[in-house]
Amino acid sequence: MRIGVLTSGGDSPGMNAALLGACRAAESRGHVLLGIARGYQGLLGGELRPLSSPEVLVRLSESGTLLGTSREPRMRSEEGIDAAAAAVRSLGDALLVVGGKGSLTAAARIAAQGVSVFGIPGTIDGDMNYPTATLGMDSAVNYGARIIDDLRVSALAMPGRYFLVETLGGDTGHLARATARVAGCELVITQDEPFDAAAFARRMRAALERDRFCIAVLAEGVGFATHIGAELERQLGARVRPTIIGHSMRAAPPSAFDRRLGLEMGEQAVKLALEGAPSCMIGYDLGAGLRSHGFAGTLGEQD
Ligand code: F6P
Repeated sequence: MRIGVLTSGGDSPGMNAALLGACRAAESRGHVLLGIARGYQGLLGGELRPLSSPEVLVRLSESGTLLGTSREPRMRSEEGIDAAAAAVRSLGDALLVVGGKGSLTAAARIAAQGVSVFGIPGTIDGDMNYPTATLGMDSAVNYGARIIDDLRVSALAMPGRYFLVETLGGDTGHLARATARVAGCELVITQDEPFDAAAFARRMRAALERDRFCIAVLAEGVGFATHIGAELERQLGARVRPTIIGHSMRAAPPSAFDRRLGLEMGEQAVKLALEGAPSCMIGYDLGAGLRSHGFAGTLGEQD
């Protein structure tokens, strides 16, 4: 069986792990995985070549994607979807797509044409429409939190200052909120709640009085840190120092969680393709979260 794989849209840490998982799953069952260059662009242009697991293994610890990626405008049109479905039929038997919401929407539309397509959610944004962890978010959050940890060093060395850190995150605030949470920042501005500069500035002032500094986090979808920062400066009567983490979040080293997620999702996608399962998206549900357990179940036998 010939299975094609592409990475599409914004690159996210762990994409190479997904390629390795897929490659090994195919090889170990005697099949070939075909790597498609630069996402849907390469699919439409017929740019593919066999991928071998030793080639992918050496890129496991790297962020980015060894196949390259693109945002292909043709995939928003009926003609583009038709052309992609035809390309999958001619390349072989199934297509794996690793990418975010836009990329997987295109994957679903190709699948609707009766072609075998499996989607792997690869985006730092954590914003899929079905319940799943997304490949790269954990790494990006680690990276963003590390930058905020560094800022805190300077903030503590010279107390009395305000900082505003802008994350990526697309059109949702999940990435900003998760980054803020992990970095111990209680003040977050996202598009999920109306922004009231005066009220937010009051919370910033209170945080500064309590902690001796204030670091707030801003989701890119709300506006630029420079603009929002200027609004807050007017309210505070003090300077707000902006830091834009931006696209460097995508270059975060893939965390253990994202590597594992990528490997397992890649394996699973190939397994399903080889079993002839219906087209689908692979998900990883983070589950119920915190639970309470009685001590009785935790303690070992008493001597
Ligand atoms: O892939 C998702 C993402 O990284 C978003 O967080 C961000 O809004 C967007 O991509 C940036 O897109 P581009 O790479 O086209 O600037």
